[in-house]
Amino acid sequence: MSEANQNNTDYVGSIAPHGGTLINRLLRGDMAQSTREMAQSLARVVLSPMNISDLELIAVGALSPLTGFMGQADYKSVVDNMHLTNGLPWTIPVTLAVDEATADKIEVGQTVALAEPDGDGTHLMGVLEVSEKYGYDKEVEAEKVYKTTEDAHPGVANVYKQGDVLLGGDIWVFDLPNAAKTEFPELRHTPAQTRRMFAQNGWRRIVAFQTRNPIHRAHEYIQKTALEIVDGLLVHPLVGETKADDIPADVRIQSYEAILRDYYPADRVMLGVFPAAMRYAGPREAIFHAIARKNYGCTHFIVGRDHAGVGGYYGTYDAQLIFDEFDRHLIDITPLMFEHAFFCKKCQMVVTAKTCPHDREEWVFLSGTQVREKLANGEMLPEEFTRPEVSKVLVEGVKKQKEEKE
Ligand code: ADX
Repeated sequence: MSEANQNNTDYVGSIAPHGGTLINRLLRGDMAQSTREMAQSLARVVLSPMNISDLELIAVGALSPLTGFMGQADYKSVVDNMHLTNGLPWTIPVTLAVDEATADKIEVGQTVALAEPDGDGTHLMGVLEVSEKYGYDKEVEAEKVYKTTEDAHPGVANVYKQGDVLLGGDIWVFDLPNAAKTEFPELRHTPAQTRRMFAQNGWRRIVAFQTRNPIHRAHEYIQKTALEIVDGLLVHPLVGETKADDIPADVRIQSYEAILRDYYPADRVMLGVFPAAMRYAGPREAIFHAIARKNYGCTHFIVGRDHAGVGGYYGTYDAQLIFDEFDRHLIDITPLMFEHAFFCKKCQMVVTAKTCPHDREEWVFLSGTQVREKLANGEMLPEEFTRPEVSKVLVEGVKKQKEEKE
């Protein structure tokens, strides 16, 4: 397939995509139609939720310069050295695992159809030009990428449960995953779209905020502090697969809309969704998140406490320290690093240990478990922790979720 008209080296915006070219693997018009027809007769590989998210991200250029699932040399280089073989920083393997029986039926050089489960059948989304088939060591990947081999870590558990063979090769997508049409389509801007929107707003310096949680007072504080020094803020919640006890994306989106409406300046803030799955890889995922947001056209990226962390697997500021391990020019997007923020009853505002002189007893902390317990009991969260407009949406959302399960 010709790449001549697909990629965009004339990107809009004040920062270059990673590697210089905004990748586009989304086929349109006749090409989409003919590939869709051709795919009907191909062998099918059914993708996992994480693969489906990755496929969408690759197709729209959010993972530029990737044009498909990683081959062995890039995979090894990423796991061992946190760089692609071309020298660009890259910290997270983006791979397609299949079981041995499936792999045995696929020859290198073959094109296979990529499908997602859809009711009793499957939905074809695109094709993979299989250029490699290779084995890998799951424990090495776990240890290097996640810093643990324990399957209690949700990202590691995902690696252990996937197939033993990786298929590498370029992809072409003719139909985005169902989620792209059904889950927040109006907020699912592609990198090309956010770049255009920033330009239309006249924003040259844009800070992105990654989140998988509702916006609590601490989040609001670091976002607004960052916004003081740039032109615009992209609130960019991740809406792909998260672990079961995280607040579901639809409830979170309602809570973002509520707080943005009442407390944020509409002409300086944009809400969009990031259709990635959560890996919980802490520091390595912070780099991955930052590079993806650079592709969306953001010049700055917020990294706070325990970014993309889970349990006690990472140090509070490991996700900030990891930026020192790279050539800053190759990362390019500027990380804005924040200390742990919380409300101080004496200061009557959100502070950090850097800015507040008072004793710990004045500081309001709530763990994720405490938040979940309160919401499960139908209780509003303390106002120092979360704005009432947000609490209300969360209490109602959790109640509805409980009722649907019963
Ligand atoms: S994450 O998995 O997406 O990182 P979360 O939604 O909790 O989880 O955090 C979003 C961003 O806010 C991350 O950069 C995180 O480090 C930062 N953050 C979260 N809570 C705080 C806090 N209390 N103080 C400072 N930074 C925070």
